[in-house]
Amino acid sequence: MASIAPLLSAASAAAVLTRRRSPMPDALVAPGPNREETERLIEIALRVPDHGRLSPWRLVLIAGEAKQRWVEKLLELAGQREDAPKTRVSTRKLASAPLVVVVVSSAIPGHKVPEWEQWLSAGAVCMNLVNGAHALGFGANWLTGWHAYDGRATALLGLEDGQKVAGVVLIGNVAAEAPERPRARAADVTRWLEA
Ligand SMILES: Cc1cc2nc3c(=O)[nH]c(=O)nc-3n(C[C@H](O)[C@H](O)[C@H](O)COP(=O)(O)O)c2cc1C
Repeated sequence: MASIAPLLSAASAAAVLTRRRSPMPDALVAPGPNREETERLIEIALRVPDHGRLSPWRLVLIAGEAKQRWVEKLLELAGQREDAPKTRVSTRKLASAPLVVVVVSSAIPGHKVPEWEQWLSAGAVCMNLVNGAHALGFGANWLTGWHAYDGRATALLGLEDGQKVAGVVLIGNVAAEAPERPRARAADVTRWLEA
């Protein structure tokens, strides 16, 4: 038997994955997932391959007033940077989504499971969040931006030494679908290994 999933739900899962597209950040609007939907989303997010069962990721959930304050503080920090005009614009992209999940890579250096594999697992958490949001009827956009790399900005999230932002995933209702974008052609990026 190929799968334990009933045919109908397998087909709809495939349809969800085939059609998914990231809406523009400002097209993600309230209402966001409620408490139950958020818990389900996090459950999906954490169901990722994880070599050595290290859980080498942490999630910071930002919503409501805390989110408003976070964006205000980021705008202040953005204004102090040399590239302020650009960083302010990218910070404003964070304003409308009702839920932000920051996926933090928390890899263990020197472990027998290479750090690279631990980083990939954090990327898988980001992708599961994006697909999970879509499957639950919401939209999501996986961003990073200046605030993922600026020490004062990551301090707002309480990041510890060695932790890195893998993704700032914006989640919300989709006010407007994004037009489809060009996709990589399978023939250009795949090849069968010759016998
Ligand atoms: C690690 C990572 C970081 C990204 N950071 C940004 C970003 O900072 N700004 C941005 O506009 N898009 C960023 N993107 C791309 C967005 O996710 C983009 O909306 C997406 O590629 C659209 O493609 P899709 O419709 O297939 O999801 C990033 C993607 C990845 C994987």
